[in-house]
Amino acid sequence: MYANVFKRSYIWNDEFCVSTRPAARSACQPERLVTRHGIERPAPGTGIKVHFKDSKGAHIKTVEANEGDNILEVAHEHDVDLEGACEGSVACSTCHVILPVEFYNQLPEPEDDENDMLDMAFGLTDTSRLGCQVKLTRALDGITATLPAATRNMFVDGVKPTKH
Ligand code: FES
Repeated sequence: MYANVFKRSYIWNDEFCVSTRPAARSACQPERLVTRHGIERPAPGTGIKVHFKDSKGAHIKTVEANEGDNILEVAHEHDVDLEGACEGSVACSTCHVILPVEFYNQLPEPEDDENDMLDMAFGLTDTSRLGCQVKLTRALDGITATLPAATRNMFVDGVKPTKH
């Protein structure tokens, strides 16, 4: 019976689970989840650390994320000024981030649509990615996302999306 309840209540995603029912969430790795702005977040010290830096290399902030979050979502949640004009639909390059080569090399190759958008990104480097396409895994713990000096908004000029 427990197995049936468990199957109904959770969606497994590799190494973690997400409850589909708010009332059942406490049974899903309770020591690793806290609520922040109504979103389940890792308890301090248990999440995947993401460091954000500005284009000059100055530290902006370090935050913790869950496996499966993407860099754009994490930036928005923590008020890091990474635009994301198309809200992750791979139709802009305003979520462009520059990654350290050792982390970049661990990521799957970008899809063609991401490469197309990256070609339009300001300050493109060999280790550039779209933040909305970088899904965090435990292997990326400690990753640094450096924001470029500027972005080129081909999607909605001058309009920044509101937080969800
Ligand atoms: S938010 Fe537009 S491509 Fe990532």
